[in-house]
Amino acid sequence: VANIGFIGLGKLGLPCAAAMSVKTGNRIYGFDVNTDVKNYIDLKKVPYMENNIEEYLRNANITFCKSIEEVIRICDVIFIAVQTPHEEEFEGNTPVPERTSDFNYEYLINVSGQIADIEAKYIKKKKLIVIISTVLPGTIRSKILPIFSEVYENFDICYNPYFIAMGDTINDFLNPEFVLIGSDSPSAMTKLESFYKDFQTAQTRKMSIESAELTKVAYNTFIGFKIVFANLLGEIMQEINGNVDEVTGALSQANIRLLSPKYLSAGMADGGGCHPRDQIAMSWLAKSLNLSVNPFDWLARARDAQTKKQSEMIIEYHKSHNLPIIILGKSYKSNVNLIVGSPSRLLCHYLDSKGINYECHDNFVDKKKTSYVEKAIFFVATNHDYIKEIIFPQGSVLIDPWGNMINRRTNYKSLIITPGRN
Ligand SMILES: NC(=O)c1ccc[n+]([C@@H]2O[C@H](COP(=O)([O-])OP(=O)(O)OC[C@H]3O[C@@H](n4cnc5c(N)ncnc54)[C@H](O)[C@@H]3O)[C@@H](O)[C@H]2O)c1
Repeated sequence: VANIGFIGLGKLGLPCAAAMSVKTGNRIYGFDVNTDVKNYIDLKKVPYMENNIEEYLRNANITFCKSIEEVIRICDVIFIAVQTPHEEEFEGNTPVPERTSDFNYEYLINVSGQIADIEAKYIKKKKLIVIISTVLPGTIRSKILPIFSEVYENFDICYNPYFIAMGDTINDFLNPEFVLIGSDSPSAMTKLESFYKDFQTAQTRKMSIESAELTKVAYNTFIGFKIVFANLLGEIMQEINGNVDEVTGALSQANIRLLSPKYLSAGMADGGGCHPRDQIAMSWLAKSLNLSVNPFDWLARARDAQTKKQSEMIIEYHKSHNLPIIILGKSYKSNVNLIVGSPSRLLCHYLDSKGINYECHDNFVDKKKTSYVEKAIFFVATNHDYIKEIIFPQGSVLIDPWGNMINRRTNYKSLIITPGRN
């Protein structure tokens, strides 16, 4: 990468630009509408607390440009880190208002418009625009890409958000858990990946723009779930006179199921002889201890709601294709015959409640092997290995919430639905 540009040298942009310059030895060409930023660069001092920023500014080469146009003219790769703010009432300093809202994208749209308007004669080689600012899923395609639609041959666009805790920006930027890049252009993603490989060892996750957008905000809100959960355990211990640190300390060691990639794939609801009933019992406990919130109740009901939604999807295909329904799997987990707390049974409950006829088969539970000759709506309710090998009759609709059938799409002349996995 020859010349690197940075538009928006705020609390995220300036520390990252300085770190990039120091680690790559490159000069960074930056621009910010706030001209105070030039003083920060000249004086090697910022008015906010940021670990090691002064040392990095002393060793970095950053040229403060006069305009966005100047940055684009000089640079091949341009990072954008302008703010995508919220109104103050959404900052979390006061209770959540009734009305919630998206971020404000006016700064990002403004900068994108200025870049897209730059005269073609200044663009000798295709430029790589890298958006770092946080956006909600769907934003880049609906609000930003259209701005570049008439000059798309001059620009590749990547969405490349960082996972950074304010105050420790440089350390987090240089030592990420993974580098996240979303783009429509595989070659642009590879170029950006190789730029980071120069000074970072983390694995790169390259994906669609939408997936990267969701990964960024899913990461942050997942942390919110963990904190609410830990605080709730604290409330319980407060009520029954216990020590929450003993509990969270033990849970922190559960790095096979809890703190691991396990259970982090979309499919059917949770199940088994313990989980659903624990959620329901804990919901009761939260109510009887008068805890501040009751996420256990929400959890138990979310399990119902997600399963009900799956039953509605089955009914929709059943009606639109006029085919019988066959539910594959009765047990609550793969390759066993245990049906207690099974989400498949809950699904059947919702079909029954609507008076829908269906059959439900399970080789382990029924102790017999099934094969199919008549086309139908097949729904994979249990992730049994044998289901992956079934040859489905042509003209069937196969709904697979686990996503196993994705790679086998071409093998079937049937409609294969893998929800959430376009
Ligand atoms: N600060 C963080 O630790 C952090 C971490 C992760 C993500 N983010 C995201 O990064 C983005 C930036 O955050 P921030 O904290 O650095 O915000 P910030 O307000 O500190 O910085 C944004 C900078 O962009 C500048 N700017 C606005 N319009 C401009 C324009 N037309 N041309 C040039 N510069 C312009 C502003 O003057 C400001 O200096 C946000 O979307 C934020 O959500 C920030």
